[in-house]
Amino acid sequence: MSSVSEPIPLAQPDIGPREEELVLEVLRSGMLSLGPMGPRFERAFADWVGTKHAAAVSSGTAGLHLGLVRAGVGPGDEVITSPFSFISSANCALHAGADVTFADIDPVTFNLDPAALEAAITPRTKAIVPVHIFGLPCDIEAISAIAAKHGLAIVEDGAEALGAMRQGRKVGTHGSPTIFAFYPNKQMTTGEGGIVTTDDDDVYEDLLSLRNQGRADSGAWLEHDRLGWNYRMDDLSAAVGLAQVERLDEILGRRAAVAERYAPLLAGIPGVTLPSVVEGDVRSWFVYTVLLEPHVDRNAVIGLLAERGVASKPYLPSIHLQPLYRARGHREGEFPISEATSARALALPFFGKLTLEQQERVAEALAAVLADPPVR
Ligand SMILES: Cc1ncc(COP(=O)(O)O)c(C=O)c1O
Repeated sequence: MSSVSEPIPLAQPDIGPREEELVLEVLRSGMLSLGPMGPRFERAFADWVGTKHAAAVSSGTAGLHLGLVRAGVGPGDEVITSPFSFISSANCALHAGADVTFADIDPVTFNLDPAALEAAITPRTKAIVPVHIFGLPCDIEAISAIAAKHGLAIVEDGAEALGAMRQGRKVGTHGSPTIFAFYPNKQMTTGEGGIVTTDDDDVYEDLLSLRNQGRADSGAWLEHDRLGWNYRMDDLSAAVGLAQVERLDEILGRRAAVAERYAPLLAGIPGVTLPSVVEGDVRSWFVYTVLLEPHVDRNAVIGLLAERGVASKPYLPSIHLQPLYRARGHREGEFPISEATSARALALPFFGKLTLEQQERVAEALAAVLADPPVR
């Protein structure tokens, strides 16, 4: 065991000289917000994804909130999402004043199960927030057909799925507003930040107003004709984002290569299930999450890996069992597939600059811990 080596972190952003150059350009311009860098970043991002528009916002959560507000979601409405996601996928409904309903996931993709989703629809349901979890596209065709049948809006949560392909089409181009998120553990970063892609001119115009305190479409200075928020992205963040988009193919390619190297290193370890592959879809690598056997004490494994200098994380906890949602009446047993996945999932160190030597150390440490695994 190479315990004298540096600890291996879970994630690390990929920042280079171009990011520094563009941030400096903004600093020297004096236009730190509402300057030209925001639109430059948005244009480059929309072109990369393949949509007509992209509206940058201050976070992925802000994008989800505005997407629901734009869809007319409000008090009395229900929004259905996956319990196996980051908490924002559900909280955005609460931010809009609506209630959250969960539907269980598919055990292979960990994405919303369309049958469970349809069964969860009530007369109060107004929108669906399907999540492309761990960068693997959800069954957006089936979900869109259900939404159309029941007259529901869709706001796609693509926070973890920038660059993912569903049956040959990039996530973000399937017709519903789609949000991406740029916290530094994501495929690309802006520090904090998010963006909403859309082909719809009216949705885009409304998003520009809603993120900017409900500024009137007339552009009249300080005229506000609706309730909005300050969800703007500043130009320093946009500068980092533009540099990242310019290098996005390279960044994603590096992550895919790291993921590819993990598979043979981990495949031989008894009791480890590797991330699923779905024929015809391309995962965009956000995290590298394996499943442990149900009887293994995953949290104890995390502690033992940490002793060997390997960071890891229980990822993801089911949203409905978070204290906030327990307080709203949710309990164990409601969504058994999500709960079982949450109990077994282990995120390993994963980022584009992870070296083969580091990956070998991760595999060595995991094999050593699981040779005599702590049990629940
Ligand atoms: C699935 C999912 N949805 C939403 C978000 C929220 O993004 P942000 O942290 O930028 O608000 C994240 C990221 O943390 C996420 O992973």
